[in-house]
Amino acid sequence: MLKILNIVGARPNFMKIAPIVRQMKRRDNEFQQLIVHTGQHYDAAMSNSFFKDLGMPQPDFHLEVGSASHAVQTARIMTAFEPVVLAEKPDWVLVVGDVNSTVACALVCSKLGVKVAHVEAGLRSRDRTMPEEINRIVTDTISDLLLTTSQDANENLKAEGVSEDKINFVGNVMIDSLFYSLKLTEKSNIREDLNLTEKDYAVLTLHRPSNVDDEKIFGGLLDALCVISEKIPIIFPAHPRTRARISEFGFADAIERSQIKLIEPLGYLDFIRLYSGARLVLTDSGGLQEETTALSIPCLTLRENTERPITISHGTNILTGINPERIKQIAFEVLNREASAGDKKIPPLWDGRAAERICDCLSETDSQENL
Ligand code: UD1
Repeated sequence: MLKILNIVGARPNFMKIAPIVRQMKRRDNEFQQLIVHTGQHYDAAMSNSFFKDLGMPQPDFHLEVGSASHAVQTARIMTAFEPVVLAEKPDWVLVVGDVNSTVACALVCSKLGVKVAHVEAGLRSRDRTMPEEINRIVTDTISDLLLTTSQDANENLKAEGVSEDKINFVGNVMIDSLFYSLKLTEKSNIREDLNLTEKDYAVLTLHRPSNVDDEKIFGGLLDALCVISEKIPIIFPAHPRTRARISEFGFADAIERSQIKLIEPLGYLDFIRLYSGARLVLTDSGGLQEETTALSIPCLTLRENTERPITISHGTNILTGINPERIKQIAFEVLNREASAGDKKIPPLWDGRAAERICDCLSETDSQENL
């Protein structure tokens, strides 16, 4: 029996851990799993509603660290997590993605000699000004098992000198959650509540510090988005960071006058229901680039780089950069195209069974080590 601590902290972690927890519970003769929530995200809309929507058991440990500077948040997570590891003595700690909770918990384990498995390893934007890129590099460097979503991630890790026997291409757990939840989203009334007709609206999310913390950059993006919204209304569930910048920079009036509709962040099922009916998605989120690819929905990524190139080579994603003129031009090109179901090109192993392969890998790695 393997004892595993599954770590969640911020919004994009919950849908990655949920299928792994489900799989481990199904294989309870092989796994004893406990969920640790660091509390990096704490609002009902950013955290609690996801447990409910994903059918996830409540966390066994809640570290309640909350918001702070990167250094303080990371340090608080490390300080609160260390006693949990010492008391529970897990065989493995499983971390997902690239948030501060991921790197903080991995660091604690590497110092205590506890094995770490990193799900979604090897993604690289090659932009070290992104906090997530630093988190990815550090976490991969100190993890014992690197579980990847795409072959390009394997190549990145090998190029950095990671030994091949630590790397396993298992597919994408985020897509496990998406496929598992699609049927359930039919119960959501979000399109009716917002009075939307399928394929007659666009969905926008923006929260990267590089896009929303700089008044000039955020203002330029909003100018382009206001113009695009004249052609197709845009629904904009705003992250708390983004909402705060909108009022700080005085952008609320311009949004009010446009066809951009600002709403609160949505729960997992409502959000899938919303974007799965959209004609177009505009985003700077990593997860949404993948989810739109899995559902063949055109996606414009408002960033200069992406750590998920497979969504461009094998999916529906277009990297627009942050130049407002270029964003408008590409958006209009996509909107002028015939609305088609898209060619259903889905990256290899984005098949809804990644969590199974992750559990297999953990079992096999452990039994090989014990030979
Ligand atoms: C974090 C992740 C990012 C991920 C994003 C998804 C890091 C470095 N970044 O960024 O990779 O894409 O989550 O949401 O870990 N806040 C609230 N309520 C909450 C959470 C946050 O109001 O429940 C506000 C706080 O004012 C906080 C700000 O949002 O200062 C930013 O939160 P934080 O967790 O520091 O980073 P995110 O920008 O959410």
